[in-house]
Amino acid sequence: MPEVLPTGKNIHALDPQAIPTAAAVQSAKVVVDRLLARQTAENNNQWPETIAMVLWGTDNIKTYGESLAQVLWLVGARPLPDSLGRVNKVELIPLEELGRPRIDVVVNCSGVFRDLFINQMALIDRAIKMAAEADEPLELNFIRKHALQQASELGIDLRQAATRVFTNASGSYAANVNLAVENSSWEQESELQDMYLSRKSFAFSADSPGTMQQARELFETALKTVDVTFQNLDSSEISLTDVSHYFDSDPTKLVAALRGDGKQPKAYIADTTTANAQVRTLSETVRLDSRTKLLNPKWYEGMLAHGYEGVREISKRLVNTMGWSATAGAVDNWVYEEANATFILDEQMRQRLLNTNPHSFRKMVSTFLELHGRGYWETSEANLELLRQLYQEVEDKIEGVELEHHHHHH
Ligand code: BEZ
Ligand code: MG
Repeated sequence: MPEVLPTGKNIHALDPQAIPTAAAVQSAKVVVDRLLARQTAENNNQWPETIAMVLWGTDNIKTYGESLAQVLWLVGARPLPDSLGRVNKVELIPLEELGRPRIDVVVNCSGVFRDLFINQMALIDRAIKMAAEADEPLELNFIRKHALQQASELGIDLRQAATRVFTNASGSYAANVNLAVENSSWEQESELQDMYLSRKSFAFSADSPGTMQQARELFETALKTVDVTFQNLDSSEISLTDVSHYFDSDPTKLVAALRGDGKQPKAYIADTTTANAQVRTLSETVRLDSRTKLLNPKWYEGMLAHGYEGVREISKRLVNTMGWSATAGAVDNWVYEEANATFILDEQMRQRLLNTNPHSFRKMVSTFLELHGRGYWETSEANLELLRQLYQEVEDKIEGVELEHHHHHH
């Protein structure tokens, strides 16, 4: 289970079948339309053909199904609630009414979403397959366009080729890319991508909702056409570098590797936690987050006031920021340069960190060196030299303390 479950509405107060609500459908349209307007404006007025979306359980609880409704609106489908407000049916919105093409989607559901919303996964799956089977012009229905191609490439039928709802195997959560990044237990980004593919490629089908089958080839094929990745912020309290689960969910560099044309998809994050929903690029969101937290004296001084644990929090945030370099290439060089200036070049600061929590300080120093080693941070040789020297000093200090400790006890 996730180490931090973002806080929100009581799960038990919500009938999982009652989402998305009409209000959520309305909010979803606003966000999707903003996303599409921005993407097309920056892309020669071309519609994206496929959007990879991450669905979390908690944000759908809090918003009564907004991100679920976003998927339906992209596809051009509407939920049909029954007289009790339960949503078990969907219908396609006619193209004339939709006024744009049906956008293809690859839906990456978290393990928590799967546990809470299996019926809603069926809803999405049915909407997508209805779209694939609709006899419409291919330039106005990217789901059908891609599914027809994929069916002939893979030698499968159209419905199977239109598999777009993926999650973990039952009982499994996350891609575990976060653990690899936290432990530096990886060499190539392709290893992280392989973990994502092997853990998150379990296909959902409304025809047999109980059994998730691994379908890695279908997952890879679907991801190959992605030109945009997209996720909603879960809450105003939990931002992109607060927890490792956000970068763990992100398929941006994975898509770039699978596409084979060297193009990296545009990545967007929606913040629907305030009255006026915002759609920003992932890089903008990481910049904003770094300014508000890691590089903000109010934030890090607040952490330092907590002593040992506070230094650990600073070090964890630096690692979570590195996660965004590893999975999405979404961190500007200046973020690391400023972090290094704040925590390493400032002699007083580095002494405080070292004295308060030498282990976390060592982790920070090694993370900066790792950032450079992996090509995520370009900096001066002098900065690197200082880091190497500090690493040695903090090693000695930790060993010294451990030796002393040893003496006292024997
Ligand atoms: C979720 O709500 O789906 C979720 C929560 C925490 C971490 C990852 C996913
Ligand atoms: Mg909202």
